[in-house]
Amino acid sequence: MSPLLCPTPARWLDRALGDLDTLLLDHAHCEKKAASTVLALVFRAPEMELSGALSRMAREELTHFEMALRELKRRGLPYEKLPPSAYAGRLAAACRKRPESEGLLDAFVAGALIEARSCERLALLANAVDDPHLRAFYHALHPAEERHHLLLLEAAERFGDPMPRLAHLAAVEAAIVTEGEDIVRMHA
Ligand SMILES: [Fe+2]
Ligand SMILES: [Fe+2]
Repeated sequence: MSPLLCPTPARWLDRALGDLDTLLLDHAHCEKKAASTVLALVFRAPEMELSGALSRMAREELTHFEMALRELKRRGLPYEKLPPSAYAGRLAAACRKRPESEGLLDAFVAGALIEARSCERLALLANAVDDPHLRAFYHALHPAEERHHLLLLEAAERFGDPMPRLAHLAAVEAAIVTEGEDIVRMHA
């Protein structure tokens, strides 16, 4: 079911568990970014049914953002800027931009991969963290990210056969994840 070509390396979870505060701050920014990215797709793909589904998804991502803010507050942490990992930028760099139909197909496929990776990592975190509040938070988000990855993959089909690009971009995503980054981020 998952489009991911490799599991998250064990060192990512070790690093994340070692600094859950930074992970949570980055997570808040990721949910905000997800909402903004999906809203941008509403502008780029003006089809009524798809726009409705994407609008609901954007609102759901904003709800996740607010949930992450509440977790930050509960832990007494500030909400402040944090440089993102290179993950999303590297995946975007592998996407075609023109013509628009190909750009949209790639944007939806890349989005689906990011959602699928989030989904995989939320499950890892939900099973590994000790803090019961944080466990519940990760458990609560997991099903939504599963739905989001399926929605984006289905949306991609409106713009052509997504399978060749899914194979290519999933390989790029797996290479980025396998290489990893020496920082604590949801997608490092
Ligand atoms: Fe989310
Ligand atoms: Fe999502």
